[in-house]
Order: sequence, then C-alpha cells, then structure tokens
Amino acid sequence: MPASPTVVVTGGAGFIGSHTCVELLGNGYELIVVDDYLNSSPEVFARIEKAAGRAVGAVYRADIRDRRALSRVFEQHRVDAVVHFAARKAVGESTRRPAEYYDNNVGGTTALLHVMADHGVHRLVFSSSCSIYGDAVAVPLSEDAPARPTNPYAASKWMCEQILADVCRRRPEFHVLSLRYFNPVGAHPSGLLGDDPHGQPANLMPCLAQVAIGRRARLRVYGDDYPTPDGTGIRDYIHVMDVAQAHRLALEHLPDRSGMHVFNLGTGSGVSVLELVAAFGDACGRPIPYSVEARRPGDVPVLVADARRVASAWGWRPRHGLAAMCRDAWRFQYLNPMGYDGPAGLAAAADVRL
Ligand code: NAD
Ligand code: WQD
Repeated sequence: MPASPTVVVTGGAGFIGSHTCVELLGNGYELIVVDDYLNSSPEVFARIEKAAGRAVGAVYRADIRDRRALSRVFEQHRVDAVVHFAARKAVGESTRRPAEYYDNNVGGTTALLHVMADHGVHRLVFSSSCSIYGDAVAVPLSEDAPARPTNPYAASKWMCEQILADVCRRRPEFHVLSLRYFNPVGAHPSGLLGDDPHGQPANLMPCLAQVAIGRRARLRVYGDDYPTPDGTGIRDYIHVMDVAQAHRLALEHLPDRSGMHVFNLGTGSGVSVLELVAAFGDACGRPIPYSVEARRPGDVPVLVADARRVASAWGWRPRHGLAAMCRDAWRFQYLNPMGYDGPAGLAAAADVRL
C-alpha cells in the first residue's frame, strides 16, 4: 500500500467508526467516510477533526446499498482499502425486524463487494461480532468455536462472514480480515467522542452513563440468577480506543496474506454486570442505583474471548483496563449530557479534568 493509503470507512460516523477515524487520521491515512446517519450524526466530523488534528478527506451521505451512490465514491477517489462498519446492531430490534437487518447488513455487504470488485479494490476489514458464537458451550471462545447465532443480527454477521469467505475462496486477489469484537465500550480520552446511539441505548455501558448523569433513575440489571459468581451476566469489555488501534493494525497486516482471516478482539477477561456497576460508580464518584429485573430474552450467561490469535499474529494486546473504560465513558457523558446533538454542553472544554 502507498505511504498514505486512502481508506473508505463505511459507517465512519458511528461509535467504533468515529474512533477508528481518529486513530487512522493520526497515523497518516486519508479517509473517505460513507454513512447514512441511520444511527449517528454528522456533528461527529468536527469532533473527529478536533481529536485527530486533521479532517476526514470527504464525507458522503449515502446508504451503502445504493450501488450507484457507492460507485460514485469509488470513481472519485483512488481507494486502497475499505473498513466496513456500516450495519444495524441492536439485537432486540433485529428479532422484531429481521428482514431489515438482513437487508441492511447482508445487502450492504454484498453491494460493497460488488462496487469494490468493479473498481479493482480487494482489501477489506470487516466488523464482525462475538454474538455469532451464540450460547457458548465453553469459554474463553477461540475463533474456531462453532458459530451458533441466536438472533437475526448475529445471523446477519455470520452470513456476511460466510459470503466474504466464499468470495475469497474464488477470488484470490481479495484480502479480508474479519474482526469479531466482544463488547466495545469507553470513549476517546478527550471526551469529544463517545457512544451516542439514537433513541434508548440497549447496551449496558451507555445505560450506566445515562443513570450516572441523571437521564434515567436507575439501571435495570437483567437477571441475577445466572450460573456466575454473583449471578449476573459476564462479558469481555474492550476499550473502543483499543478496538480502533486494532483496525489500524489490521490495515497494516492486510497485505500479508490473501484470503479471509478471522480474529477475536477482546481482553480475555470476564466482568459481571455488578462488577461494571461498581467500577462505573468509582469512576463517577457516586454509587449507581439499580434494580434487579427478569433476564433479558436471548442473553447468555458468559461471553469471554480467547484473544491469543491476534496477540501472536500481530504482537498486539488491548492496553486499557476497566477503570479507563469507565472513566472515559463517564467523561464523554459528563461533557455531552445529551450527546452530539444536544446543547453544546461542556465538550468545548475537552481538557476539563474530571
Ligand atoms: P453504530 O450504529 O454506532 O455505527 C454504525 C454506523 O453505520 C452508523 O453511523 C450508521 O448510521 C451507519 N449505517 C448503518 N447502516 C448503514 C447503511 N446501510 N449505509 C450507510 N451507513 C449505515 O455502531 P458501532 O457500535 O459503531 O458498530 C460498528 C460495527 O461494529 C457494526 O457493524 C456492528 O455490527 C459491529 N459491532 C459492534 C459492536 C458493539 O458492541 N458496538 C460489537 C460487535 C460488532
Ligand atoms: C451486557 C450485559 C446484559 C443492559 C451486545 C450484542 C453483541 C455486541 C455487544 C454487537 C448483559 C446486561 C445490559 C442493561 C443489563 N454488539 N445488561 N442492563 O448483550 O453482551 O452484547 O452488544 O455486535 O453482539 O449482543 O451487551 O451491553 O447489551 O449487555 O443488565 O440495561 O449487561 O444482560 O449481561 P451484550 P450489552
């Protein structure tokens, strides 16, 4: 790849995409973002520029399933590689609207593959998910654990992986890395960027942050009768800045081997809901009120990564611990109480010490 590769980032306005843009801009990449703002806001680009000290080269508001619009993007730039984040990601919603999930996530990926191939672009980093492992038989989960998706969202990610593997089997010019993230949380340490989903968040960390800032009265803990030490669900939380850095390494390693290769992105450590509640309380300086409710349908007791493959392939490990994940998520929430589109908040004073 050239010294300053040009990378198309689909879904670059979203949570993980925006943090990855900062990481890539800081390392000399030229970026083209394609996003339809289904779950994000164009406000994020000023924040990206402020955090990175450089701007994204071009931004296109487009649905990636719109092949004409996507082709125009590839016609206007000499693209070296693609990082493909754009997808719908809410598990619960996917059970209510399965066709939309398959259409967006699978249809978006096949449209992208067509346009890439039409323009001679064959290098892709794909956002996959630990959810494809489903109800784990044994943890930690290595990449060789069987895929047993239990909802349409997870199934859509597994279908995309299978499509990508098929394309790579038949088209040796393709180089694809599929990164299976466990539970990305936290925020950029400046407080400029963070997780700001549209509507009610479904994930634990943004819910905790909204309780801490007073937007919700209490956290609902979904079940304390799991077969875990404190009875609450255990997950492998990973700082979004580590996830962003792993994407830079993935781009660096894409040329190494053709074909499709899969890596888990997790820390390898499990944290229960109540442990995260306590850690967040420490970060924000007050206990988080919560009530124990019924289990959330479809939840599994434990999901923890075996993260050794990426460590041995790239010599890379996540650097941030749980305290940093909570501190940074809280800083973002505190500085942006209503998110990117709310009142200016305190984000302008991003160097405020909390
Ligand atoms: P996000 O919703 O914040 O970001 C996704 C972005 O893609 C949004 O900006 C959205 O507007 C955009 N988008 C969606 N469909 C689009 C389309 N058809 N055309 C153009 N843009 C579209 O989500 P995120 O948390 O940043 O997740 C990024 C990727 O990582 C997704 O593929 C998700 O499935 C995957 N993933 C996320 C997690 C997690 O916990 N956040 C875990 C595992 C995998
Ligand atoms: C974590 C734990 C909940 C909210 C999902 C997707 C996965 C990946 C990450 C995309 C669980 C509990 C949650 C709340 C709670 N995303 N919880 N109260 O379900 O592990 O994973 O996001 O790929 O695919 O499935 O993440 O943050 O929703 O839940 O008690 O208000 O917190 O039951 O044990 P999950 P989560």
